[in-house]
Amino acid sequence: MIKTIAWQDNRVVMIDQRKLPREEIYVVCSDYRQVIEAIKAMVIRGAPAIGLAAALGAALGAQGIAARDPGEFRQRFEEICREIGKARPTAINLAWALEGMLAKAESAAGRGVSGIKNLLVREARRLVSQDVAINRALGRAGQEVIRDGDTILTHCNAGALATGGYGTALGVIRAARAAGKKVRVLADETRPFLQGTRLTAWELARDRIPVTLITDSMAGHFMKKGLIDRVIVGADRIAANGDTANKIGTYSVAVLARAHRIPFYVAAPCSTIDPRIKTGKAIPIEERDEKEVTHWAGQCLAPAGIQVLNPAFDVTPASYITGIITERGLLQAPFGRSIREALRGKGEQMEAGRRRREATAKSGKKTK
Ligand code: MRU
Repeated sequence: MIKTIAWQDNRVVMIDQRKLPREEIYVVCSDYRQVIEAIKAMVIRGAPAIGLAAALGAALGAQGIAARDPGEFRQRFEEICREIGKARPTAINLAWALEGMLAKAESAAGRGVSGIKNLLVREARRLVSQDVAINRALGRAGQEVIRDGDTILTHCNAGALATGGYGTALGVIRAARAAGKKVRVLADETRPFLQGTRLTAWELARDRIPVTLITDSMAGHFMKKGLIDRVIVGADRIAANGDTANKIGTYSVAVLARAHRIPFYVAAPCSTIDPRIKTGKAIPIEERDEKEVTHWAGQCLAPAGIQVLNPAFDVTPASYITGIITERGLLQAPFGRSIREALRGKGEQMEAGRRRREATAKSGKKTK
């Protein structure tokens, strides 16, 4: 299995996804700020993998805190988590992982600083293996919607590289193959960052899963010809009503799928659902460097000074989604209800954690 990210000898090690598939090299971070830079620069990307990088980055940051007093330590740890939380805005897994790390630090209040530090490393590593287990469970649930012989269109990379391993959308495909179904994948190239060309094509070919690369604008053509049976994509944030933010271009694929009566599935762990956001309108959409659009292999292809827009994600309304595949099973419309049932109180738990920390921070200020 591809090792996306790991904790090794008090460092965070991740495969450099900017270099794939030409070079398989690893970036080693010995400071949490390097982890932040790696997330921003897309060394590591994909919502669950960003969450894991955040958790491991926080554990790394914790190791470097000099404070001996647990209260001071926790204050500095919260600052570090806040810094990491700003690395990228759309994938909710980033905030989710940091909430978990902060809650862990709080729960260890009775231990000394070195005990808390050890606990945070253990928790971050546990999140990595938990993510793989979640993807496998999600894959098992999702493969039920796939028939033997299906050709599946996917957009961006929601594979092992975008997670702790195995993948979400690609995890469903892996599980279908493991169940003996012969499936083929059409991978959209995914302009402008080419996650489909560079990453999805690479990881599927490596696993000998039949994959054919197409440009984004070819999807409608192949749907019209009856050559696509299902669409499965990942997600960066799912609102309480099922509206889903994913890589730019996903919405166009969903509209095309609806026009051709092709089932359109989102595969994501429950940690990608943000119950505090009611609809997709409130999901923040990252705007990335215009060079991703104007440049090709370091060369500018566009006229100098041209205006550029580069939103990294779009939102697919829930009404275009046939089902959301999670580790807790297939969620169907009405999504508001199925999501609530799948989460059972996750929103309240996160909110309570946030309020507790706010209260601790305020009382800390007063006593100064
Ligand atoms: O900009 P990226 O490469 O981080 O965007 C990734 C995606 O949009 C993925 O489809 C999503 O994060 C799901 S990954 C399991």
